[in-house]
Amino acid sequence: MKYLFILGRNVELSIAEIKSFLEREKINFKIISKISNGILIETENLQRVLPSSSNQIKEKNLKGIIEKLGGTISIGEVLTEGTPEKVSKELDKITLYSGKENKLNYVVFNFHGKYYIDILIYLKQRFREEKLKATEKKITGNIKLQSGELVPNLTSKLIGEKYFVFEDCFGKIIETVDYEKIEKRDMEKPVRREELSISPRLAKIMINLSKVKEGETLLDPFCGIGVVLQEALLQNIKVIGVDIDKEAVKNAKLNLEWFKFPKENYQLINEDSSKIKIPKVQAIATEPDLGELQKKIPSLQKAEEIVNGFEKLIIKIINNLKKNVEGRIVFTAPLVRTGKNKIECDFNRISSSTGLKIAKGFPIPEFREDSIVGRSIVVLEK
Ligand SMILES: C[S@@+](CC[C@H](N)C(=O)[O-])C[C@H]1O[C@@H](n2cnc3c(N)ncnc32)[C@H](O)[C@@H]1O
Repeated sequence: MKYLFILGRNVELSIAEIKSFLEREKINFKIISKISNGILIETENLQRVLPSSSNQIKEKNLKGIIEKLGGTISIGEVLTEGTPEKVSKELDKITLYSGKENKLNYVVFNFHGKYYIDILIYLKQRFREEKLKATEKKITGNIKLQSGELVPNLTSKLIGEKYFVFEDCFGKIIETVDYEKIEKRDMEKPVRREELSISPRLAKIMINLSKVKEGETLLDPFCGIGVVLQEALLQNIKVIGVDIDKEAVKNAKLNLEWFKFPKENYQLINEDSSKIKIPKVQAIATEPDLGELQKKIPSLQKAEEIVNGFEKLIIKIINNLKKNVEGRIVFTAPLVRTGKNKIECDFNRISSSTGLKIAKGFPIPEFREDSIVGRSIVVLEK
């Protein structure tokens, strides 16, 4: 089976997340092709986490993986591939629209589709034959990828049916992330800390990069008001959160209680993570203090001070915790803009001072065009 994953703004990080997720789930896969923010994945057993829908498309019934991935916007399933003749012959045998109303809007996302126009003609005819009032919509609006490339914004809720062409493949989108739901959840919780907290999206990515499994325990030694903890608990991962600030721990507790997570699944501790003794955990995912808030672009000297201070802090914390961490340690590190350049930590120094290896492909930068202090996403392993 082949699947299309349409990724969010940080394509490199989103791909790393998908790889970690599939490896953790022991799903064999191969990335066959990449076009802009779309990757085509071939896999034999993704159905285990994403039930197949090749002959009967039941989008609503999927208890899919999209909610677990922070960097993926949509997942589509390839229904057929090849020349227009082969595609139309095969599509004739497949239900394309299973809705009840005889009126629908649809869109065809185009990732260098070889036979895009042929597919548009096929769909028009097909829906006419099925006596459906079908209107093809065009995507308006773009999102800007971290690389600067503009790509169509595919998250519109207004469109009913979403199909795609990717090179010579044709398929149907079977899951799309519900950003509104995630945002609503985040706005409604009792305590928010806009400047200091990471987004639920990035928290999910880091949890997946850590490869922690359902039922295992994740540690966040800089838990703040608990965004990483909340996202892990939502995936049935147990958590331990530590913060040196009493107020932060109190607020994390209020937030986790508001979610009504089972109390036995989390533990919150007000202590210094460079001194605390922790029980065995499977992984760490955390955003430490990235230095004081910068209102203007700092000098080179100031930027170096920020990253040096961070290195000292993270080395001390990791060396205190590492013997009780079985798997990966995932953290964010400051990526500080000075003039045209960005200054980052000396990751080889962090690696040699902790005796841990930097996982292949990391660190990966994560920043916004206008941010002064962005992030490097780092994964360490034994
Ligand atoms: C960037 S914030 C973490 C944000 C967090 N992800 C959230 O959702 O709120 C860093 C946190 O680390 C805590 N901190 C700093 N030094 C610490 C230490 N040595 N031990 C434990 N916590 C520490 C700070 O109090 C702060 O709440």
